[in-house]
Amino acid sequence: MSNKQLIEQFEQRETPFYHYDLGLLRKTIEKVKKLAQEYDFDIHYAVKANSNVPILKEFQAAGFGADCVSGNEVSLAAECGFPTSDILFAGVGKTDKEIKTALKLNIKAFNCESSQEIEILNGLAAEEGKVAEISLRINPNVDAKTHKYITTGLDENKFGINHSDLPKIVEEIKAYNNIHLTGVHFHIGSQITDLNVFKGLCLRVNEIQHWFQEQGIEITHLNLGGGLGIDYQKPDTNSIADFEQYFQIFSEFLERKPEQKVHFELGRSMVAQCGALVSRVVFVKKGINTDFVIVDAGMTELLRPALYQSYHQIDNISSKKAPQIYDVVGPICESTDCFGKAMTLPETQRGDFILIRSAGAYGEVMTSRYNLRDQHEALYTE
Ligand code: LLP
Repeated sequence: MSNKQLIEQFEQRETPFYHYDLGLLRKTIEKVKKLAQEYDFDIHYAVKANSNVPILKEFQAAGFGADCVSGNEVSLAAECGFPTSDILFAGVGKTDKEIKTALKLNIKAFNCESSQEIEILNGLAAEEGKVAEISLRINPNVDAKTHKYITTGLDENKFGINHSDLPKIVEEIKAYNNIHLTGVHFHIGSQITDLNVFKGLCLRVNEIQHWFQEQGIEITHLNLGGGLGIDYQKPDTNSIADFEQYFQIFSEFLERKPEQKVHFELGRSMVAQCGALVSRVVFVKKGINTDFVIVDAGMTELLRPALYQSYHQIDNISSKKAPQIYDVVGPICESTDCFGKAMTLPETQRGDFILIRSAGAYGEVMTSRYNLRDQHEALYTE
């Protein structure tokens, strides 16, 4: 859609809101689906990245499974038509209520992260008269080389079971009648752009698999999590992530037995590029060292820059004037409420439409009502 057509649609609405390009989403889904079929990989969409119903329905229609991290995500995925036999439930702190919700829905499996969680799950499954299938989320101590706050696979992180605790946990599971261990699960972090990291993960998973083999435990599901990064610098040139190389690495380095299923939980790489946060310029203010473009979106709508110092491309689609340098900031009473420092934009004025790009993942799902902000419905175009 041209900028002119977009502006015509945007003008009808109150800002800020999220705009999703379903055409790009479908192209991304098709690409992943084709590659997954070629490699015989099983893809679960990580609902946490974006849980808007129209987005979930696209994944459901394409036959993806759902990777959920709360009881509400499990319920929503089921309501959106994902077969419950394709729903996984992960998370370090599943409550009894959430576990019961998932048990009642007969989800495929729980990714378990501690000895105590497995004990509680066994008890709750017994109450329901069910046997819960589980994968053990193992912390492989592999550095994802990404932002500290989204690194999950190091010993210092709260996630997963440490290798040294495995023997004890595997022994405990043998005594449980309502747990069936079938898989291992790994997720080492997000926005991983050095794909060599995934090779390192494969080698570590192979070692761990050998250990299970030595114990005589049959592992039929290998779940490698998500984490593939996207190009925040060039969203137009690289609108679809490098899935070819990503899957190729796992196909080459992961040891897989014929009876094993290989699963991925992709979030960001599926949805980030199809979403933009749309806002209007409220004021342009001259500062001492810099000029500020003050937009009507804030960290309440997109927290990533404030939380992870993340870069998002910013476009002014209303102006074709000469480039200028601005700090683009929101209206919230926090100095971290800044979308970009020293950004080059065409000369900008009150009322211009500003797009904050690559915001389809971990954007709308992380909004808050801090400062009692209004929330506006998303816009979907084909
Ligand atoms: N599986 C598990 C167990 C996860 O914890 C995550 C993401 C994923 C899959 C999906 O990972 P992805 O493919 O999206 O990298 N809010 C942060 C990202 C947090 C990621 C949390 N876990 C951000 O805005 O960068």
